[in-house]
Amino acid sequence: MQDKLTTLRNRLREVSYLQSTYGLLGWDQQVMMPKGAAPYRAEMLAYIGTEIHNKFVKLDEGGVLADLVAAAKKGVLSERDARLVTELWHDYEKEVKIPTEFVTELEAHRSASQHAWEHAKAKGDFKTVEPYLEKMVSLFRKQAEYLGYPDHPYDALLDYYESGLTTAGITGILEEVKAFLIPFIKKIKKDGVRVTESKIYGSYDRETQVSFSEDLSKRMGFNFHRGRLDQSTHPFSEGFHPTDVRMTTRFSEKDVRESISGTMHETGHSLYEQGLPTEYRGTPLGAARSFGVHESQSRLWENNIGKSHAFLSYLVPKLRKAFPRSLKKLSTDEVYRSWNAVTPNLIRVAADEVTYNLHIIIRFELEKALIEGSLKVRDLPKAWNAKYKEYLGISVPNNTKGVMQDIHWYCGYFGYFPTYTLGNLYAAQLHHALKKAIPRLDKKLARGDCTAVKEWLNTHIHRHGRYYSVEELLRQATGEAPTARYFIDYIREKYGEIYKLY
Ligand code: CO
Repeated sequence: MQDKLTTLRNRLREVSYLQSTYGLLGWDQQVMMPKGAAPYRAEMLAYIGTEIHNKFVKLDEGGVLADLVAAAKKGVLSERDARLVTELWHDYEKEVKIPTEFVTELEAHRSASQHAWEHAKAKGDFKTVEPYLEKMVSLFRKQAEYLGYPDHPYDALLDYYESGLTTAGITGILEEVKAFLIPFIKKIKKDGVRVTESKIYGSYDRETQVSFSEDLSKRMGFNFHRGRLDQSTHPFSEGFHPTDVRMTTRFSEKDVRESISGTMHETGHSLYEQGLPTEYRGTPLGAARSFGVHESQSRLWENNIGKSHAFLSYLVPKLRKAFPRSLKKLSTDEVYRSWNAVTPNLIRVAADEVTYNLHIIIRFELEKALIEGSLKVRDLPKAWNAKYKEYLGISVPNNTKGVMQDIHWYCGYFGYFPTYTLGNLYAAQLHHALKKAIPRLDKKLARGDCTAVKEWLNTHIHRHGRYYSVEELLRQATGEAPTARYFIDYIREKYGEIYKLY
């Protein structure tokens, strides 16, 4: 069996070189590439995307992987190797069901559709993107058929992002969150004291923000010897290897929260990538567990830590020093309240942590309906606007600020959105556990000392890769299976205090 393991690992290494190349080209496309290079880059990405697929489906050539899976079932392999091959089999079984021509068609359509969206977004011109989106939906309905599913075609797509999650399962979780959030937001509006975020607005020069962001990221434990921080319109982070992790943030000269949130969020993702076990790189044990777990790392830092009273009491004096013309008349306590103002708003990425999940729930309900065929693409803008009115009480003035704001659907990321809310739920649960585990955490954070948090996450999440299932991972880190309870308690407690509700 050792020979077969070696063969498998060699094959996996080739796949991971290609995946890293694909990722690096994607990073370059968003950060450095001249605009004129877009069509050629699309060709390159389609080619390499297809090559990854071709190599991946050959992992089992000569029955190598199937034999190893059988050996794992018999208990012949070590626990680690058994988990490795079982996880890999899960991915492999999905990949072989997809014909190569379909992969090429999808990759080409992805680039064309993204390009169309980029051009039409500013004008809110949904008519232009409609045929692209229609084709995208039909491609993913087809993909669900190739893959097969227990109950609902959307099950097949969800499994890519959060393996084992079903449509019924996520519907239950999101319904629980929705049933809490809608009346809670109404209560804030009706009974809460007035809290305005405009107090934060000021004049924050870009250059100072750039070095401020780098310092912040370093303080959280990001290793700049093994990674970079750049700028892009939509912040993201991507790890090609634990020694090469790229992330971006963005800057607003009016509202400093944008770059701080962006930087802390992406650093949270990047710490996960830098903390994965190098010795297993290229295998499932060296990869992040799931999109939901990944997002828990970013949200924990961005929200649970970054927007806490303790951490802001470290950050605010530093901000006053760096930007002497802003925030000067405000106490740290006032900044804390304004920083956390709950304001139903049109844009997901600018949403506060209370209303954020309603943005996700809206997208989930709509994309599920698109995939099952109960909603037509041409009716999507109307359905979008109706849900914003119903759940958040706001009117959508145009498609730029509505149905065309996110790239996901135009790139074919169906099944991705729910993992944002899962990330928030896992983050609250992990935050609860790490507060219990780290003595005097608030005092440490108030000094800007993030070491204990980073180490706790390294130990309980990062170094495990995909060794544990999501449920096992949460259990060993927090003592409990994933639950929405900690998130609901956290929001109720924090915002009940800010808005003096009880
Ligand atoms: Co994220």
